[in-house]
Amino acid sequence: MKINIRVNGKMISDDVACDMLLLDFLRYHGFYSVKRGCETSNCGLCTVWLDNKPILSCSMLCAKCDGHEITTLEGLKKDAEAFAYFMANEGAEQCGFCSPGLIMNVLAMEKELQHPTEEMIKNYLAGNLCRCTGYMGQLRAITKYLNRHQGGKNEADQ
Ligand code: FES
Ligand code: FES
Repeated sequence: MKINIRVNGKMISDDVACDMLLLDFLRYHGFYSVKRGCETSNCGLCTVWLDNKPILSCSMLCAKCDGHEITTLEGLKKDAEAFAYFMANEGAEQCGFCSPGLIMNVLAMEKELQHPTEEMIKNYLAGNLCRCTGYMGQLRAITKYLNRHQGGKNEADQ
């Protein structure tokens, strides 16, 4: 079937199988930030935005995205860099396997929640798993990143 999906602002028209997953469609078209983890909606590695809301691309048919807009990490480089500064400052960098999905959800949370509490952050990111490090450094970095505009200058701009 023919579909048209706008990815990071660029229209992609393709003829796809009815059962093709969005994850496979995106990787086929070179969006390698989108990672394949559990494939069972449990790890968050494959997170992208559908019309600016985070979804799991391993559980979404690309046919259902026909006529819609997808955003991947490749389309959010500037914001991702600003967030990476906070992660590095807390020594909380993660591997290239799990970090794209985490970053997509942190940036989505920033748009969706106003001044989230630690509990709200934990709930929002409950679906993003890391199999090797702890979560506390990341939580500190995320909290600082989300509160960076409170009380003056953006730390990343200094
Ligand atoms: S690969 Fe999609 S949630 Fe794990
Ligand atoms: S740092 Fe990537 S899975 Fe743990």
